[in-house]
Amino acid sequence: MNAQQIRSAYLAFFEERAHAVVKRAPLVLKGDPTTLFTGSGMQPMIPYLLGEPHPKGKRIVNSQTCLRAQDIDDIGDNRHTTFFEMLGNWSMGDYFKKQQIEWMWEFLSEVVELDMSKVYVTCYIGDERYGIPKDVEAAEVWESLYEKAGLSHGQADIGSEQDGYERGINEGERIFYYDGSKNWWSRNGGPETTPVGDPCGPDSEMFYDFGIEHDPSFGEHCHPNCDCGRFMEIGNNVFMAYQKVDEGRFEPLEKPNIDHGSGLERIAAAKLGDPDVFKISLMWPIIQKLEEMSKKSYNDNLESMRVISDHLRAATFLAVDGCEPSNKEQGYVMRRLLRRAIRFANELGVNKEFFEEIVPVVANLYVEDFPEVAEQRDKIIATLLKEEKAFTRTLAKGMRHLLRFVDGGLTGRELFTLHDTYGFPVELSVEIAKRQGIELADDWKDVFDASMREQRERSQTAAKGTFKGGLEGGTMAHRRLHTANHLMYAALKKVVGEHVTQRGSNITAERLRFDFNNEEKVTREQLDLVERMVNEWIDADLPVSYKEYPTDEAFRLGAIGAFGDRYGETVKVYQMGEGENRASFEICGGPHVDHTGQLSQNDDGTPNGKRFRITKEESSSAGVRRVKAVLV
Ligand code: ALA
Repeated sequence: MNAQQIRSAYLAFFEERAHAVVKRAPLVLKGDPTTLFTGSGMQPMIPYLLGEPHPKGKRIVNSQTCLRAQDIDDIGDNRHTTFFEMLGNWSMGDYFKKQQIEWMWEFLSEVVELDMSKVYVTCYIGDERYGIPKDVEAAEVWESLYEKAGLSHGQADIGSEQDGYERGINEGERIFYYDGSKNWWSRNGGPETTPVGDPCGPDSEMFYDFGIEHDPSFGEHCHPNCDCGRFMEIGNNVFMAYQKVDEGRFEPLEKPNIDHGSGLERIAAAKLGDPDVFKISLMWPIIQKLEEMSKKSYNDNLESMRVISDHLRAATFLAVDGCEPSNKEQGYVMRRLLRRAIRFANELGVNKEFFEEIVPVVANLYVEDFPEVAEQRDKIIATLLKEEKAFTRTLAKGMRHLLRFVDGGLTGRELFTLHDTYGFPVELSVEIAKRQGIELADDWKDVFDASMREQRERSQTAAKGTFKGGLEGGTMAHRRLHTANHLMYAALKKVVGEHVTQRGSNITAERLRFDFNNEEKVTREQLDLVERMVNEWIDADLPVSYKEYPTDEAFRLGAIGAFGDRYGETVKVYQMGEGENRASFEICGGPHVDHTGQLSQNDDGTPNGKRFRITKEESSSAGVRRVKAVLV
């Protein structure tokens, strides 16, 4: 049985048991500002799990595409993927624990025909503080199923993950009790961190033992929740019996629900008996394509081929679901996925544009079950290609710069320049240098780190002392042009592209000057469009306000800023316009006018009919354009 067959069999199994099969929800959920991406099958079901009747009834089943962006840096091992499918079945106040466990057993043992002697389970140990008991009920159901199958079924109390590493497991033990950090499910971890208002409850997870040797660098002994790779979680049965009503207080739901989620890719790996999820039928054809394109073998290039195949599969679905690469929120994650894929492809020696060869392979894998991928193939390719082209250019430039050092060797200072000017992560430069036989100075790391530190200190000092957006004075005329500058920056991003980033700015009482990255000249038509947008925003008389945010939060909310990670802990963010009419949201120290209408008013507030005009567009340095603008 391959992954596609497991998916169909699962849907059919629950359909035969009176479940309605529903479509996957998109990766970006409309109207749910709490999370960037759909990260589990239950997310779109929350209203129904809290009691609202589902239009399709009380029993629902689907395969939900999920994305967990927090895992990006873990990709490269044999089991993590950012994108995956979660096979989910739900009982909205209908059947409960015993039925769920028995069906899961039947599905895994009789339909998928997994070797059940390799399946281990965990249950919730209980928490007196919240009056929630140890889940002996679930354990008893498992116990009798193992018993019937003639398999051992010893139980053991573990507690936390750390306790697991200390204790390990003994021969014959099969059912393990863990605390709330492991066997409690909510959208945000254990009972302490469960969001107030959310449905939640104890869960029982299923693990598959791949029988590989324990790696003690994870902890002394192995146990089901150990991360060494011997045990892999294949599914989770949530007994969603509570709602958190207040800090530290849980109330039983009137009717408890079942929320089940299994990792399709992982069940498929268990079925193959190989812990490498990239070998399954939904991934392997992508790897094969990469082998063909690079003329290199998977076995010698595990990390790069895994990263590329995972990231492009994820980005393809993001494109299907309407996401585009950008500098904020979901778009930023998409951009990171694509750029990482390109970097790793470069390391593989695949230098030509290759997204358009991979996307059809992905589309093909899903043609039966998610036909929208194949239907939107051209649109996906166009979206991805645009990003690929832009980033490939930067990469090529940096590469040329780097190769100048073939004879002389690379110093830490030069590695810093590559990072600072060309956006080359230092690991990438070092990797390329090694491949090209470029020598690295012995102290490169110390010098590179010191340069990074120095730069951070310099810009923090600058941010504290004179961070006034390049203003040469604070008169009303300066403020007006400063506000105009923010509006123009936002408009340039819309018209010229999201890649536009400030490289410098200077504002006098007469004009603003603004430098930004862009390869080509900006055309007069584009400048006209920018002018028109800015003037419309001036006419709309948008309110200007600011708020202080933790820096991470500011970026997460989509604030634009020129200095990347060089900001301090908190930043001031200026907003022009509100809600849907927000024109600009930019990190800045001020000062600005109070409302954009003041850009066409005198100091005393009388209208003067002035318009925003871009008077000059020229090259400032390689890849950097400079514009000057006035209010006349
Ligand atoms: N919602 C549960 C999970 O994601 C099934 O593990």
